[in-house]
This record gives sequence, structure tokens and C-alpha cells, in this order.
Amino acid sequence: MSVLAPELAELVAAARSARERAYAPYSGFQVGAALRSARGEIFAGCNVENASYGGTICAERSAVLAMVANTPRPAGAAASWRPTLTAIAVFTDAAELAMPCGLCRQVLAEFAVSALVVVANPRAERVLSFAELFPEPFVLLPEPGTR
Ligand code: THU
Repeated sequence: MSVLAPELAELVAAARSARERAYAPYSGFQVGAALRSARGEIFAGCNVENASYGGTICAERSAVLAMVANTPRPAGAAASWRPTLTAIAVFTDAAELAMPCGLCRQVLAEFAVSALVVVANPRAERVLSFAELFPEPFVLLPEPGTR
């Protein structure tokens, strides 16, 4: 039985549903992700593979791109303004809970200020803070919202 807070359970359900839309004919490994933006909206993503392999995008980055592409920028916002996320769920059917890859962690670091991460499969779920998941990202800008 899930003991997740309802807001996180909702994200896990959205990630599970997004996984159904994964395009993963090469690996057969389908991943879904869903994040909640600071505005309270849910954005989902799935992995989209490519014949070139290197063109493949992971579910987590796909969800981040959906958030950025669909969040209006405030009028007069600085170039460094970006939408942020407060939580992200990642759903696979792997035997072991699958953790976000290193590249996705670095991309998430740009938009996740004090976010929660839920990794889940049909049998288990684990919640951790983004800071635990990726304690020392490479950064060039101050934290979002501090300028
Ligand atoms: N994948 C993700 O979507 N997220 C991750 O964090 C790790 C890997 C995808 C990429 C590829 O389509 C498949 O899983 C196998 O690596």
C-alpha cells in the first residue's frame, strides 16, 4: 500500500501513465516521468529513442522540456529566469527501482530548487530529496528566484 502524500501519489500516477507513451523500440525499457512546477501544474514526459541512439531523450528531460516549453515567461523577466519544479516522479517496470541518469540529474539541477524525487515501479516507491540524489551539480547561475 502506498504511503505517499496525495500530491506525490498523483505525480506517480501521471508518470505511470506517461510511461505508456514511451517510444523505446531499441532498448524495450519504457520510462515515464511527471513533475509539478512551482505554479502547480503537472508536466509529463517519456523516453523517446532514436535510430541514432545518441538522439535518445530520457523521460525526465522530456518532462523538463515540456515544463519549459509550456510555462510563460513573466514580462520583463531576466534571461536567467526559469520555471522551477517542486517534485518529480519517475516510473519504470524494472525489477529494481531505476534512478535518474547522470545527464538528467544535471539538467534537473537547473530547475529543481528544493525538489522531491520519487522513483517508483508497480511494486515499490522511494522518496528522496533532489539534493540527496545530486548533491554537487555544476552551476553557472545563482539559484532561480534569488535574483
Ligand atoms: N532512460 C530514461 O528515460 N531515464 C533515465 O534516467 C535512464 C534511462 C531511458 C533512456 C533509454 O531510452 C532507456 O531508458 C534505456 O537506457
